[in-house]
Amino acid sequence: MKIAFFSPHSDPLAEPGQPDSGGQCIYERQVAIHLARQGHEVRVFTRLWGDKRPQESIADGAAVHRYPMGPPGFLRKEDMGPYIAEFAAAVISDRRVWLESADAFHGHYWDGGVSALAAGLSLGKPVVFTAHSLGALKRDRLPDPDPEGATFRYDIRLAAERRILGAADGVITLGKVEQRALVERCGCDPGKIAVIPGGVELSEFRVAGDKRTLQRELGFNTDYVLFTVGRLDPRKGFLELLEAMPRVLRGLADAGMSATLLMPMGQERPAPAEMAYRARLQERAKALGIEGAIHWFPRLSDEALRQRYSAADLFLCPSPYEPFGLVLAEAFASGTPVVATVHGGPSEIVSPGEDGYLADPEDPEEFSSAILKALLLPPPDRRKMQACAFAKAENRFAWESVATRVADVYRGLDGKAG
Ligand code: F6P
Repeated sequence: MKIAFFSPHSDPLAEPGQPDSGGQCIYERQVAIHLARQGHEVRVFTRLWGDKRPQESIADGAAVHRYPMGPPGFLRKEDMGPYIAEFAAAVISDRRVWLESADAFHGHYWDGGVSALAAGLSLGKPVVFTAHSLGALKRDRLPDPDPEGATFRYDIRLAAERRILGAADGVITLGKVEQRALVERCGCDPGKIAVIPGGVELSEFRVAGDKRTLQRELGFNTDYVLFTVGRLDPRKGFLELLEAMPRVLRGLADAGMSATLLMPMGQERPAPAEMAYRARLQERAKALGIEGAIHWFPRLSDEALRQRYSAADLFLCPSPYEPFGLVLAEAFASGTPVVATVHGGPSEIVSPGEDGYLADPEDPEEFSSAILKALLLPPPDRRKMQACAFAKAENRFAWESVATRVADVYRGLDGKAG
């Protein structure tokens, strides 16, 4: 099959951690690679900006094609609305022949949904939509801080998602929480939804032979190492995590133990919003008197990142809302249990007591209790949790089977639209 991904803001070759680049980039890249390995051809249409090249290969059979859209520099995903029609028109006029021979158009996130739909309606092709994050669910947890609604533009986003979901021929969601919301909150026909989780590239992550030895090699000498990673974005809940840390450190000190928290400090040249958030985090750590227990790490190479995943005793995902949580699958593939937010996709990934715990990051007492519970388990129980975490990554999150199931959705569209 020939598959067109439409994804204006999320470039599959962008480095996760940059503004508006995260799990969705990894998802699109890995699904494209694995579809191509299975003999399909994938083209990802995304935005051309900065010093990116108009065309780049992802793997044999999968490529990125970039088109200008709006101003030349970075554009927040929330501000893309007015330029999406222009983007779809540019893609169609340049790639019409290929698009006419394609089997399915797959829109990612609402900006991708709008462009896939515009192209699909123009050329009579079936359209699949993956929201990656749903406006209605995000708004419940993160209302717009701007009284005019200019930060998250929920007005445009929610209306667009409803319309895309009504018109799409197929919908892929990464989890059941979102599946329910698609039906109950957005009026989506349940018959056209397929639930297919995200994945992890098992060959890229490693389980440490002995976590303690690896921690010492990396220069961490406390009894425990806690690890979290993500863009410096309030949506990732790092500030909430800091609020939980004094209680964690006190609890450990009572048991005669200590911990280091590995916290990201963003990119070398952060955008103003990122810089402001970093300053808030560092000031708050100081005010809470916990800076001594925090190791702020700059942007890391893939290898260094993976070492920290496997060295950590516990991975933390404190987002007030997390649509899926690919980072949890990465932690599991590294043999590392997690404490993750109870809000969103993680509740379907984590089996509490087996491979981690779920807690509300906005309740510092609850979140810190979950961390302490995981750390203070007797060593044989902790080793069992590590083994369960890895087994889950192996059994549930292989990209190859994700891609097979996504391809089945495209196959099932035969005869729809077109
Ligand atoms: O754009 C970065 C990103 O993390 C995507 O990977 C993901 O799809 C999206 O943000 C989630 O967006 P929202 O902030 O709307 O929940």
